[in-house]
Amino acid sequence: MQRNNLVPRRSILSVPGYRENMLQKSLGLDADIVMLDLEDSVPVDKKAEGRKKIVDFLKTTNNSGKTFSVRVNEINSAFALHDILDLLENCSDKIDSLIIPKVEDVSEIHFVDKLINSVSLSKGEEIKTGIEVSIESPKGLAKVNELAAASMRNISLVFGIADFSSALQMRMFSLSGHGENEKEDYPGHKWHYVLSSILIAARANGLSAIDAPFGNFGDLDGLRESAKLSASLGFDGKWAIHPSQISIINEVFSPTQEQINFALQAKEYYELASKEGKGSVSVDGRMVDGATYRLALKTLELVNKKR
Ligand code: GLV
Ligand code: MG
Repeated sequence: MQRNNLVPRRSILSVPGYRENMLQKSLGLDADIVMLDLEDSVPVDKKAEGRKKIVDFLKTTNNSGKTFSVRVNEINSAFALHDILDLLENCSDKIDSLIIPKVEDVSEIHFVDKLINSVSLSKGEEIKTGIEVSIESPKGLAKVNELAAASMRNISLVFGIADFSSALQMRMFSLSGHGENEKEDYPGHKWHYVLSSILIAARANGLSAIDAPFGNFGDLDGLRESAKLSASLGFDGKWAIHPSQISIINEVFSPTQEQINFALQAKEYYELASKEGKGSVSVDGRMVDGATYRLALKTLELVNKKR
């Protein structure tokens, strides 16, 4: 398993854990991460079955070249303990991260962190599985910085838009997806504050920031618009709830050729200029100084983060 912070997280395909055919199908798709779900896409009477299907699927899937995460049930539920124990005891080596939904308190992250430690000790091997923290409520957002800093195992913050909307009592357009009907509804970007808060807390703690899914999967233009909004803020990626969404998400969350060319040029010119004792240089009519140089390096880092 690649260490989790080296794995690109542009597209994260959510697959209901009890749907065996969908688990198999995910192996042939181009998502950066396949997220096997045990939470809201799995009915209560199928939780145990879903857990078993995911364990069997992961145990028998070898050399797939895929990176898997699993969304367990919320910590304050009847299922989370068994979800986490079964997964870690049986196939921790195949699970890049556990996604913890609806997190509102650091104690939930500490609980998962300690469980991972405890299973590591009982197995006598280091478990590298990371934790992804899903922010889905005003309470979670109010503590977003603390939650981001709660464990060394944290690797990302995830925006859960559907639950967040219901917690705010917003009007519903479809299951989820900012960008849809937004202009008619509210002449600003109503999620700007939430997205920025999640992004800033993630970056302040060295984590990735993952945007919510776009629920209207027939509307690919809407998806693109929604993805562009969070990509332009700085988000790393977005959940996909349908295979047709993956390629657009991968494209939008990758730097464009124009951005790469500019970054390469900025890097080259700036490095030459600094050898000559200069602090800035003009590239294509734009000023490139130390800060712009660092921004260019970030763009090139994204290009190098390949599977
Ligand atoms: C995801 O969990 C969401 O609530 O949007
Ligand atoms: Mg949710």
